[in-house]
Amino acid sequence: MTRQDTRTAMTASFWNAEGGEVWVRSQDLLDRLNAPIGEAVVARADPGPGKRVLDVGCGAGATTLDMARRLGPAGSCVGVDVSGPLLNLARQRAEAQDLPQAQFIEADAQDHAFEAGAFDAILSRFGVMFFPDPDAAFANLRRALKPGGALVFACWRGPAENPLSQIPLQVAAPLLSEPPPPPGDGPGRFAFADPDRVRGVLDRSGWRDIAITPLDAPMPLSFDELMVLSLELGSLGPILRREDEATRARVTDAVAERLRDEVRDGVVPMTGACWLVTAVG
Ligand SMILES: C[S@@+](CC[C@H](N)C(=O)[O-])C[C@H]1O[C@@H](n2cnc3c(N)ncnc32)[C@H](O)[C@@H]1O
Repeated sequence: MTRQDTRTAMTASFWNAEGGEVWVRSQDLLDRLNAPIGEAVVARADPGPGKRVLDVGCGAGATTLDMARRLGPAGSCVGVDVSGPLLNLARQRAEAQDLPQAQFIEADAQDHAFEAGAFDAILSRFGVMFFPDPDAAFANLRRALKPGGALVFACWRGPAENPLSQIPLQVAAPLLSEPPPPPGDGPGRFAFADPDRVRGVLDRSGWRDIAITPLDAPMPLSFDELMVLSLELGSLGPILRREDEATRARVTDAVAERLRDEVRDGVVPMTGACWLVTAVG
């Protein structure tokens, strides 16, 4: 598999295999870091008790469960995701938390035949940047929403505003067997970094009253947690998993040496720089 193929595979097949498995292993860390973003999205999207909400790219379901709790037993929050491993964890959590109103479907949100007008609101925390055809996906989501319903999602601003996401790749680049692919606007974590692109996608797919505002969240973490984020979960993860053991060891040492500089009083004071995007269907 070439590097280009690897990046392309950040779509359904990636998330249903290695991406999903790696996320399941680190879900507690990810949920802790991403909690303030989830809280902002869920609070903004909440249509009130008894209503029906769709959580797109719900992963292991943290935001689905939070929204389901708010909606109460008469409502429902449906999480949709392409990742079997992440949905297994989401279902286990819903059962453990006794939230039958949290439901999950394994499907590609870009073209799944949702019942038209079935939802009062649609939300997503970092689950909408992986569509191969974003215009088609957001048109499909709009059909699933009642007219006048709200769309609320969080996506990442660019690498320059999230510098810790780039350092591992920069440090690793000279040690890898091939240069890593340059960041592009294909499916991936930073696909919606450009607010004009997001506005264009939403405009073309029929959304109105589009608002895109910065959302910054403190995401403090330990050095060891930053290493997990850098070597397994970030853009370097899939690349490193395809290198041999000796290269992985060299990259790990180099990244560790560089990232130690980021520790202040025993903690890495990371901030997540995101967009909060809202629109009306
Ligand atoms: C960065 S994770 C975010 C997961 C979760 N929302 C959270 O905040 O923990 C992106 C999620 O989007 C899902 N995803 C990617 N493409 C998708 C698609 N076309 N349809 C549905 N889910 C998708 C992935 O499987 C993954 O669970």
